[in-house]
Amino acid sequence: MAAVTESVRLETEGDIALVVVDNPPVNALSWHVRQGLFDGINQAVAGGAKAIVVMCDGRTFIAGADISEFGGGAPQAAGLPEVQAAMENAPVPVIAAIHGTALGGGLEVALCAHYRVALGSAKFGLPEVNLGLLPGAGGTQRLPRLTGVPKALEMMTSGRHIGTDEALECGLVDELAHGDLSALRTAAIGFANRAIAENMPLLRVRDRNDKVEAAKGDTELFAKFRKSIARKTRGFLAPEYNVQCVEAAANLSFEEGLKVERKLFLELMTGPQSQAQRYYFFAERAANKVPGIDKDTPLVDIQKCGVLGAGTMGGGIAMNFANVGIPVTIVERDQEALDRGLAVVRKNYERSRSITPEMVEQRMAMITGSTDKADFADCDIVIEAVFEDMELKKTIFRELDQICKPGAIMASNTSALDVNEIASVTSRPESVIGMHFFSPANVMKLLEVVRGDKSSDTTVATAMSIGKRIGKIAALVGVCHGFVGNRMLFMRRIEADRIILEGATPAQVDRVLFDFGFPMGPFAMSDLAGLDIGWKAENSKGETLRDLMCESGRRGQKNGRGYYTYDSETRAATPDPEVEQIIKDFATGKGIEQREVSDQEVLERCLYPMVNEGAKILEEGIAIRGSDVDVVWVNGYGWPVYRGGPMHWADSVGLTEIVEKIKGYSALGGRHWELSPLLERLAAEGGKLSNYSN
Ligand SMILES: NC(=O)c1ccc[n+]([C@@H]2O[C@H](COP(=O)([O-])OP(=O)(O)OC[C@H]3O[C@@H](n4cnc5c(N)ncnc54)[C@H](O)[C@@H]3O)[C@@H](O)[C@H]2O)c1
Repeated sequence: MAAVTESVRLETEGDIALVVVDNPPVNALSWHVRQGLFDGINQAVAGGAKAIVVMCDGRTFIAGADISEFGGGAPQAAGLPEVQAAMENAPVPVIAAIHGTALGGGLEVALCAHYRVALGSAKFGLPEVNLGLLPGAGGTQRLPRLTGVPKALEMMTSGRHIGTDEALECGLVDELAHGDLSALRTAAIGFANRAIAENMPLLRVRDRNDKVEAAKGDTELFAKFRKSIARKTRGFLAPEYNVQCVEAAANLSFEEGLKVERKLFLELMTGPQSQAQRYYFFAERAANKVPGIDKDTPLVDIQKCGVLGAGTMGGGIAMNFANVGIPVTIVERDQEALDRGLAVVRKNYERSRSITPEMVEQRMAMITGSTDKADFADCDIVIEAVFEDMELKKTIFRELDQICKPGAIMASNTSALDVNEIASVTSRPESVIGMHFFSPANVMKLLEVVRGDKSSDTTVATAMSIGKRIGKIAALVGVCHGFVGNRMLFMRRIEADRIILEGATPAQVDRVLFDFGFPMGPFAMSDLAGLDIGWKAENSKGETLRDLMCESGRRGQKNGRGYYTYDSETRAATPDPEVEQIIKDFATGKGIEQREVSDQEVLERCLYPMVNEGAKILEEGIAIRGSDVDVVWVNGYGWPVYRGGPMHWADSVGLTEIVEKIKGYSALGGRHWELSPLLERLAAEGGKLSNYSN
């Protein structure tokens, strides 16, 4: 055994050399790994090995690039192409022995071996698309040559990891081993010995054209595939570029295909989308860290969860816990509401394609319904999800204070109410916190954890950690009306409602925001939620546009008429001239002159107040970091990740430009146009919102 570099060693077993990577935690392709692989292969060849096995110690094969080297600064070392060439051109068989996950650059290395042996539990994928990129080390040209075009297209545009069944079937893996790492080693050595004995050919993936032949010139195959991913990948550049690379693999020589890959890779790498997506990757990881609360803060051990209210949110929240095996007690005010709520939970499980009927029963068995809050007595956390009414919430928290065991966390799912006020009615405000889930709560990834003035470190750390355990992306925020997400959303709403009185149509506003990358605009969103939420006919005096809409029987999608008219069968939305007339008449009554409003103005007036509010949120210390604001918006409100989030986007537009525009729009009036001093200062200093941190 000989060390080649600090993370790679060379071993010999008879005629076989093993080049072993040991670069914890995930054997990323750091400079010393690349250099070690390059030197290791060459030393093995020079030493007369008759076959070479490339494998890794620890929990996984090479899991990808070393992201800490993304910013540059690593010492000069062999590049990945040189490592790959050393493997591919070795005069003896090279076998990659794979366990854990072979992802990105890791899989691109494995694709340069002549053969691949894997443990049954291994996973394979090219997830670059998720960072707005494509595999830039020949992966786009090699994968289709090994697996065929359809599989490569699917893997590269989705970033999905495949298991060994699939990998074996599509030719990505030649042989499976079962057991632990030493079983893999034995199997790989066995394979290598056979390769020597049987004089197996040195199969270079780059030379194999049989599997791509069928797709050569088949424009329809690619057109169909593009259509199949169009909805899911709308606005993203990287999926399309991945497709173009596979097209090149089918139609061009390997060398020409590599040139296409290189050109498109560089374009993505230097373009704004990947920059935003890579920024966002780190933003999400940062959100989990709370300055001032150290890692050793004791956590409440959550073995049982209580949920109060089995409505829209309560049911979904309960599902999150049941899904990870935490028993839930869900309490409603009466049996009928409870039965209704549990039936919705069951239906949601039954509708889910990834859940078998057996699993539905298992999950349902984790949820116990009750109409008695006293059943929360043995819960380690109780999450309240009753109506959004401060008096009701206070009454409930007084009761919970009597029922919950000492140390249990008492959380509210309020969307906007003052968590401090709720906590104040209890004898233990240190155990009270906001846990703001998003609808549908079993699907949406975001969790705003709302820290009250008195929430203890243990309470905060437990809420953040349980969020992670149930598969959410948790961002810690402070108390204010609407917290981070809704507070910014309110600002957009004010201006959207205003601009339609000035002459933009709801359809125009929605289109501009849809084209920006949101799943839908504010008016389509209102129709979906229902225009009559919080509206009462007896109090309606035709004073607001909403009053007028509801009074004329427009309730949104639920009755087929809202800002749009909905087709009863297809649910397709069509702008309605009657709505435009209602808006026009209302505006005229208010003395507002209608004019043509440009798309650019719509965009600026909807989004700049959000940026301004985001800056105010930061200066008030409601969010810890600018990037946390982005995490909230990408995960909770469908801000397109390829634009990074409102703070990153504002930086990319230019803060000076935004400040100037806000000053211009401030004549329109309203607190949302009052310029944030922080925003003004950062613009003047050339600072950024996205890397601002409190
Ligand atoms: N719907 C959303 O999109 C959304 C998103 C985030 C947060 N929230 C917040 O979540 C909370 C619940 O909202 P929702 O949309 O689920 O409302 P909902 O009306 O669908 O459900 C509320 C449930 O609470 C039950 N309830 C009321 N008083 C009760 C009591 N005293 N004891 C037991 N059960 C009681 C009701 O019977 C009802 O089933 C609100 O605070 C809301 O602001 C809602």
